[in-house]
Amino acid sequence: MASVTFQIWRTHGTGGQLQEYKTEISEGMVVLDAVHQIQAEQANDMAVRWNCKAGKCGSCSAEINGHPKLMCMTRMSDMPQDKPITIHPMKAFPVIRDLVTDVSVNYRMKKKIKKFKPRPPDAPDGTWRMAQADIDRIQEFRKCIECFLCQDVCHVLREHQLHEEFVGPRHMVYTAALEMHPLDVEDRREQLKDTGGIGFCNITKCCTTVCPEHITITDNAIIPLKERVADRFYDPLMRLLHLFSKK
Ligand code: SF4
Ligand code: F3S
Ligand code: FES
Repeated sequence: MASVTFQIWRTHGTGGQLQEYKTEISEGMVVLDAVHQIQAEQANDMAVRWNCKAGKCGSCSAEINGHPKLMCMTRMSDMPQDKPITIHPMKAFPVIRDLVTDVSVNYRMKKKIKKFKPRPPDAPDGTWRMAQADIDRIQEFRKCIECFLCQDVCHVLREHQLHEEFVGPRHMVYTAALEMHPLDVEDRREQLKDTGGIGFCNITKCCTTVCPEHITITDNAIIPLKERVADRFYDPLMRLLHLFSKK
C-alpha cells in the first residue's frame, strides 16, 4: 500500500480547476480504480464515465499526466508516484461535468457518412465470395472502440475545434472500413473531400500514437483515403475517365 496524490479536474459553474486528493494504492490497481476509490471515500459527487473496465467500451477516456489514455487500462504501477498524477477530461470536447465530456458531435458526424452498399450476390446460392486478403485488410479498422482519444489528440479538432468541418481520424477509420470493404460499391470520395474535410489532415500521426487498439490509423486508413481522393479529383486522367464513365 502506498499513498498517492491525484489532481483531478472538477467543474465549478462554468469553469473548473484541479482538486487534490490522496488515496491508498494497492497492487494491481489501475487509474480508474483510484478514481473510483476517491469517488467512494472523498468525492461522491465526482462525475466519471466508465462501463466495462476492460478497455472495450471506450468510455473512460481522459488525459492522465497530459497523455490521452483509457483510465481502466492505465496501471498505477506504470505511473510515477513521487509527484501528483493529474487527470483532465478530454480537451477537444466540451466538458459536461468533471471528467465527463460531450462527445455527441462524433455520432452526428458518423451518421452523415454514406452507409454500406453491397454489390449484388455473385454465387448461385445468393451469397458473396470474398478474398481473404481483402477481409484481412479491413479487419484492424473493426477493432475501434470509439474511445475518441484519436479525435482528442488531433490538432485540427483539439486546437482548431473544426468538429463540423473535419470528420477526424476515428471517422476516417470508419470510412476506410467501408470504402475498402470487398462488397461495398458506394463512392465516398466526394464526401471525404467536401463535408469530411480530409484535406485538413496533415499526417501528423498523433492519432495513431494514442490509439489503444493499435490501429494504424494514418498509414492504413487515412493515407489510402487521401490517395483515392487525389486520384479522383486531382489526377487529370482519372477525372476524364470518371467523366466518361458517367456518360
Ligand atoms: Fe479510439 Fe483508436 Fe477508435 Fe480512435 S481509432 S476512436 S483511438 S479505438
Ligand atoms: Fe489529425 Fe491524425 Fe491527421 S492526428 S492531422 S488525423 S494524421
Ligand atoms: Fe470501458 Fe475503460 S471502462 S474502456
